[in-house]
Amino acid sequence: MANAASQGILSDDLKSERDQLVEMLKKAYFMELETVMSYIANSVNPDGLLAREIAESLEQDIQEELGHAQQFATRIKELYGVVPGSEEFTAEQSFLQPPDDQLDIIHVVKGVIEAETGAIEHYNGVIEFAGEHDPVTEDMVIAILRDEEGHRRLFEGFLRELDKSGAGS
Ligand SMILES: [Fe+2]
Ligand SMILES: [Fe+2]
Repeated sequence: MANAASQGILSDDLKSERDQLVEMLKKAYFMELETVMSYIANSVNPDGLLAREIAESLEQDIQEELGHAQQFATRIKELYGVVPGSEEFTAEQSFLQPPDDQLDIIHVVKGVIEAETGAIEHYNGVIEFAGEHDPVTEDMVIAILRDEEGHRRLFEGFLRELDKSGAGS
Protein backbone atom coordinates (compact mmCIF):
# COMPACT_ATOMS: atom_id res chain seq x y z
CA MET A 1 0.00 0.00 0.00
CA ALA A 2 1.29 3.44 -0.87
CA ASN A 3 2.21 5.58 2.10
CA ALA A 4 1.37 2.79 4.52
CA ALA A 5 2.07 3.40 8.17
CA SER A 6 5.59 2.31 8.98
CA GLN A 7 4.72 0.98 12.42
CA GLY A 8 1.89 -0.78 14.15
CA ILE A 9 -1.12 -2.70 12.98
CA LEU A 10 -1.64 -0.43 9.93
CA SER A 11 1.84 -1.19 8.56
CA ASP A 12 2.52 -3.49 5.58
CA ASP A 13 4.58 -5.74 7.85
CA LEU A 14 1.50 -6.63 9.90
CA LYS A 15 -0.92 -7.14 7.01
CA SER A 16 -1.50 -10.80 7.78
CA GLU A 17 -2.12 -10.12 11.48
CA ARG A 18 -4.40 -7.23 10.52
CA ASP A 19 -6.45 -9.47 8.21
CA GLN A 20 -6.80 -12.08 10.96
CA LEU A 21 -7.93 -9.41 13.38
CA VAL A 22 -10.52 -8.10 10.91
CA GLU A 23 -11.98 -11.61 10.63
CA MET A 24 -12.24 -11.82 14.43
CA LEU A 25 -13.92 -8.42 14.52
CA LYS A 26 -16.42 -9.45 11.84
CA LYS A 27 -17.40 -12.43 13.95
CA ALA A 28 -17.79 -10.14 16.96
CA TYR A 29 -19.87 -7.70 14.91
CA PHE A 30 -22.32 -10.41 13.88
CA MET A 31 -22.47 -11.82 17.42
CA GLU A 32 -23.52 -8.39 18.67
CA LEU A 33 -26.14 -7.97 15.97
CA GLU A 34 -27.63 -11.39 16.62
CA THR A 35 -27.70 -10.53 20.32
CA VAL A 36 -29.64 -7.36 19.50
CA MET A 37 -32.24 -9.45 17.63
CA SER A 38 -32.48 -12.01 20.41
CA TYR A 39 -32.71 -9.40 23.16
CA ILE A 40 -35.43 -7.43 21.37
CA ALA A 41 -37.51 -10.61 21.01
CA ASN A 42 -36.87 -11.70 24.58
CA SER A 43 -37.60 -8.28 26.02
CA VAL A 44 -41.03 -8.31 24.40
CA ASN A 45 -42.18 -11.95 24.39
CA PRO A 46 -42.14 -13.00 28.07
CA ASP A 47 -45.36 -13.07 30.09
CA GLY A 48 -45.77 -12.77 33.81
CA LEU A 49 -44.66 -10.88 36.87
CA LEU A 50 -41.29 -12.62 37.16
CA ALA A 51 -40.42 -11.59 33.64
CA ARG A 52 -40.87 -7.84 34.05
CA GLU A 53 -37.50 -7.06 35.64
CA ILE A 54 -35.71 -9.33 33.20
CA ALA A 55 -37.44 -7.87 30.15
CA GLU A 56 -36.60 -4.35 31.31
CA SER A 57 -32.97 -5.26 31.86
CA LEU A 58 -32.76 -6.79 28.36
CA GLU A 59 -34.33 -3.67 26.94
CA GLN A 60 -31.45 -1.61 28.34
CA ASP A 61 -28.86 -4.10 27.07
CA ILE A 62 -30.14 -3.78 23.50
CA GLN A 63 -28.71 -0.28 23.20
CA GLU A 64 -25.38 -1.37 24.66
CA GLU A 65 -25.07 -4.34 22.32
CA LEU A 66 -25.97 -2.12 19.37
CA GLY A 67 -23.24 0.28 20.46
CA HIS A 68 -20.78 -2.63 20.58
CA ALA A 69 -21.73 -3.65 17.03
CA GLN A 70 -21.07 -0.09 15.86
CA GLN A 71 -17.70 -0.02 17.59
CA PHE A 72 -16.68 -3.29 15.96
CA ALA A 73 -17.83 -1.99 12.55
CA THR A 74 -15.81 1.20 12.96
CA ARG A 75 -12.69 -0.70 13.96
CA ILE A 76 -13.05 -3.09 10.97
CA LYS A 77 -13.04 -0.04 8.69
CA GLU A 78 -10.06 1.53 10.46
CA LEU A 79 -8.13 -1.70 9.90
CA TYR A 80 -8.76 -1.44 6.12
CA GLY A 81 -11.50 -4.08 6.28
CA VAL A 82 -15.03 -3.91 4.92
CA VAL A 83 -18.00 -4.24 7.26
CA PRO A 84 -19.82 -7.34 5.98
CA GLY A 85 -23.32 -7.25 4.51
CA SER A 86 -26.29 -9.10 5.91
CA GLU A 87 -25.90 -11.95 3.40
CA GLU A 88 -22.73 -13.01 5.18
CA PHE A 89 -24.63 -13.46 8.43
CA THR A 90 -25.34 -16.92 9.86
CA ALA A 91 -27.47 -17.24 12.98
CA GLU A 92 -25.92 -19.20 15.87
CA GLN A 93 -28.01 -18.44 18.95
CA SER A 94 -30.19 -21.56 18.91
CA PHE A 95 -30.38 -21.25 22.73
CA LEU A 96 -32.09 -17.83 22.55
CA GLN A 97 -35.05 -18.78 20.37
CA PRO A 98 -38.44 -18.01 21.89
CA PRO A 99 -39.53 -20.73 24.33
CA ASP A 100 -42.75 -22.71 23.69
CA ASP A 101 -44.28 -21.12 26.78
CA GLN A 102 -43.83 -17.36 27.18
CA LEU A 103 -43.94 -17.84 30.96
CA ASP A 104 -40.69 -19.80 30.70
CA ILE A 105 -38.40 -17.01 31.85
CA ILE A 106 -35.69 -19.43 33.01
CA HIS A 107 -35.15 -20.40 29.38
CA VAL A 108 -34.55 -16.73 28.54
CA VAL A 109 -32.19 -16.13 31.48
CA LYS A 110 -30.14 -19.22 30.67
CA GLY A 111 -30.03 -18.22 27.00
CA VAL A 112 -28.75 -14.74 27.88
CA ILE A 113 -26.04 -16.24 30.10
CA GLU A 114 -24.99 -18.51 27.24
CA ALA A 115 -24.88 -15.60 24.77
CA GLU A 116 -22.82 -13.48 27.17
CA THR A 117 -20.49 -16.41 27.88
CA GLY A 118 -19.93 -16.90 24.15
CA ALA A 119 -19.10 -13.21 23.75
CA ILE A 120 -16.77 -13.30 26.75
CA GLU A 121 -14.89 -16.27 25.29
CA HIS A 122 -14.52 -14.73 21.85
CA TYR A 123 -13.49 -11.33 23.20
CA ASN A 124 -10.87 -12.83 25.48
CA GLY A 125 -9.39 -14.43 22.35
CA VAL A 126 -9.49 -11.11 20.48
CA ILE A 127 -7.83 -9.33 23.41
CA GLU A 128 -5.08 -11.94 23.55
CA PHE A 129 -4.37 -11.66 19.83
CA ALA A 130 -4.72 -7.88 19.69
CA GLY A 131 -2.52 -7.58 22.77
CA GLU A 132 0.45 -8.69 20.69
CA HIS A 133 -0.21 -6.52 17.64
CA ASP A 134 -2.83 -3.84 18.15
CA PRO A 135 -3.21 -2.09 21.52
CA VAL A 136 -6.04 0.12 20.22
CA THR A 137 -8.27 -2.85 19.39
CA GLU A 138 -7.15 -4.51 22.61
CA ASP A 139 -8.22 -1.46 24.58
CA MET A 140 -11.59 -1.21 22.83
CA VAL A 141 -12.42 -4.87 23.32
CA ILE A 142 -11.37 -4.81 26.99
CA ALA A 143 -14.02 -2.13 27.60
CA ILE A 144 -16.64 -4.17 25.72
CA LEU A 145 -15.64 -7.31 27.63
CA ARG A 146 -16.33 -5.50 30.86
CA ASP A 147 -19.88 -4.76 29.70
CA GLU A 148 -20.46 -8.42 28.80
CA GLU A 149 -19.11 -9.58 32.16
CA GLY A 150 -21.50 -7.16 33.83
CA HIS A 151 -24.43 -8.51 31.80
CA ARG A 152 -23.50 -12.07 32.60
CA ARG A 153 -23.16 -11.33 36.30
CA LEU A 154 -26.56 -9.65 36.42
CA PHE A 155 -28.28 -12.59 34.77
CA GLU A 156 -26.50 -15.09 37.00
CA GLY A 157 -28.14 -13.24 39.87
CA PHE A 158 -31.55 -13.51 38.19
CA LEU A 159 -31.00 -17.24 37.70
CA ARG A 160 -30.04 -17.74 41.35
CA GLU A 161 -33.20 -16.03 42.49
CA LEU A 162 -35.39 -17.97 40.06
CA ASP A 163 -33.81 -21.26 41.16
CA LYS A 164 -34.35 -20.35 44.81
CA SER A 165 -37.97 -19.40 44.25
CA GLY A 166 -38.54 -22.73 42.53
CA ALA A 167 -39.64 -21.03 39.34
CA GLY A 168 -37.56 -23.44 37.35
CA SER A 169 -38.94 -26.66 38.82
FE1 LIG B 1 -22.08 -6.80 23.42
FE1 LIG C 1 -23.85 -8.35 26.55
